[in-house]
Amino acid sequence: MRWWPRTIRWQMLASLILLEALSVLLFAWLLVSKLGDDIQEHSLQRLAHQATSLSLQASEALLQNQVGWVGVSVRTTGDATSVAFAKVTDPSGNVLFASKGDPKQITLEPAEIAQIPHLKSDKLKVFALDHGRWESASPIYTGTDLRGYAWVENNRTWDMEQLRIVEKSTLIFGVIWNLASILLILLLSRTISKPLAILHRGTVALITLPVSTSHFPLPVTVDNEFGELIEAFNRMVASLEEQRAGLNDTLSLLDSMLANAPIGLAFFDRRLRCVRVNDVFAQLTAVSLNRHLGRTLPELLPQPVAEQVEEALQQVFAEGQPANGLEVSGHGGKPLRPWTWMVSAYPVRTNPDQVRWAGVIVQDVSERKRGEEALRKTEKLAATGRLAASIAHEINNPLEAITNLLFLLRNFSGIQEPALNYVTMAELEARRIAEIAQQTLRFYRQSTLPLRTTMAELIDSVLNLYQGRLNTLDIQVQREYDSEMTLFCFAGEIRQVFANLVGNAVDATSGGGRLRVRARRSRDWKEPNVEGVRFSVGDTGCGMDLDVRERVFEAFFTTKEVTGTGLGLWVSHEIIAKHKGKVHVRSTPAGFGKPSGTVFQIFIPDDETLTYTLQSPATNVASEVV
Ligand SMILES: Nc1ncnc2c1ncn2[C@@H]1O[C@H](COP(=O)(O)OP(=O)(O)O)[C@@H](O)[C@H]1O
Ligand SMILES: [Mg+2]
Repeated sequence: MRWWPRTIRWQMLASLILLEALSVLLFAWLLVSKLGDDIQEHSLQRLAHQATSLSLQASEALLQNQVGWVGVSVRTTGDATSVAFAKVTDPSGNVLFASKGDPKQITLEPAEIAQIPHLKSDKLKVFALDHGRWESASPIYTGTDLRGYAWVENNRTWDMEQLRIVEKSTLIFGVIWNLASILLILLLSRTISKPLAILHRGTVALITLPVSTSHFPLPVTVDNEFGELIEAFNRMVASLEEQRAGLNDTLSLLDSMLANAPIGLAFFDRRLRCVRVNDVFAQLTAVSLNRHLGRTLPELLPQPVAEQVEEALQQVFAEGQPANGLEVSGHGGKPLRPWTWMVSAYPVRTNPDQVRWAGVIVQDVSERKRGEEALRKTEKLAATGRLAASIAHEINNPLEAITNLLFLLRNFSGIQEPALNYVTMAELEARRIAEIAQQTLRFYRQSTLPLRTTMAELIDSVLNLYQGRLNTLDIQVQREYDSEMTLFCFAGEIRQVFANLVGNAVDATSGGGRLRVRARRSRDWKEPNVEGVRFSVGDTGCGMDLDVRERVFEAFFTTKEVTGTGLGLWVSHEIIAKHKGKVHVRSTPAGFGKPSGTVFQIFIPDDETLTYTLQSPATNVASEVV
């Protein structure tokens, strides 16, 4: 129905107008047809009555022999508004008197003539003429003599007018009735359509996201059921908004947890396909975050690990219980190194009876594992250190006794030449023992204050410590430093740096080689106005390839399976940082056509204002790998 209006207001209006027009028309038709009949009946009765009255008046006039009165009666009858024409004829139908015009000119119509025979028997006759005209005729008697007929024709226009009046008032009534109803509908429809329009706008605003709060609450414009509906709608929107806000809060909380948790989180469906993971998990699998969706574990992780985790997931789906404490390990990353993960799986339910997803928590515990391992070694080393220090301390007393005894022996009168030489040699070795013991103790009791220290002495003391190993491994030492040069530093710590560097160099060089230790006054590579000392420790050892060279300063990084702690260079780095120094590494591994070897270069500024400050090794030291 294209033509049918779409809004309630116009639908109501259209149907009302249609209904009322129909009912008014029906009413008018009923009224007019009924009234038309009534009017006709009445007018015919009146007509009959008028004809009878005229005939009686005429007979009375004739009885009185006053023929002129008949004419007067005819005219008065003809004057009545309901009468169109009145006449009196003789018994044979000749017109004697007429209300209008000359009677001689008027003749009866055939329909009238046809009535004359009936009139003789009947007293009164009402009959139809042509064109809807009606006429009534009545015989005029004086006694028993028939003297003529009185004819009265009705005024049709007058009758019609009666009907018109009725029609007109019906029409006026209909129009007024319609207008009033339209007005009523307009008023009524406002109270329906307006709140409906408001509700419609509100619903549309509610559907669009994000909900624009400017629309709510909806205005309550009417005080009826619709008003209550709008109020209820407003309440519903408010509670929805509350729920939505709560949901949003929870979601952003979960999102931020997922994004920022320092552990790998992943969720899998019943077919063990990945539905969501966080960044950390993506880093662990080394597959980009958005390529996880829909993948299974064997597509993301190496075979044995994937199998173990899948088994845990299956268990979670089957039993609905978390599976904790699964430790998996493998090799990965670049450079390749071992890792250990702690994996837990737990059920995620959306209704109490069914496990919808399984969540996986992965914690990379490789560092901790390595740390624990290194700690064990360090503890062992520290214990060894303490033991060495106490031995060094304890040696002093017997050593003193030996020295005293050797002194006595030297001054012994009966001693001979070759024996004296042995005594001298023994004295030398005893002094060396004393020196080593002292230096060992010096390592142990580090000074806590920076001091101006003679570099040559410091380096020599370290080299002396290693002299034994240097000799055994047939390593020639090249010393290139000025015996007078000093540096303001924490001597014990700088000694430790040297000990680490020399120790590593010795470890790297086996079966003959060279160790070159240099020190000279210099300026900073990058800031020429900073003065200090530049050291270098170079060896002709095995050298390092790039992967190793990049990581030598990392804590716990070592290539020495059993003997290494991976702490030496890390600690050295920290000490250099404390002195605001810099360190460079240059290394050539074997097999590059050049002799292999490694050179560590260190620059320590000669800074009289140096005080003890704790600094993280990573932040303030420029270490470059060359
Ligand atoms: N002079 C060197 N020549 C070859 N490799 C070296 C040298 N110095 C250090 N390295 C490498 O750096 C690693 C870390 O050294 P370090 O921190 O002293 O720990 P550690 O000596 O306990 O292994 C060593 O394991 C070794 O692989
Ligand atoms: Mg070392």
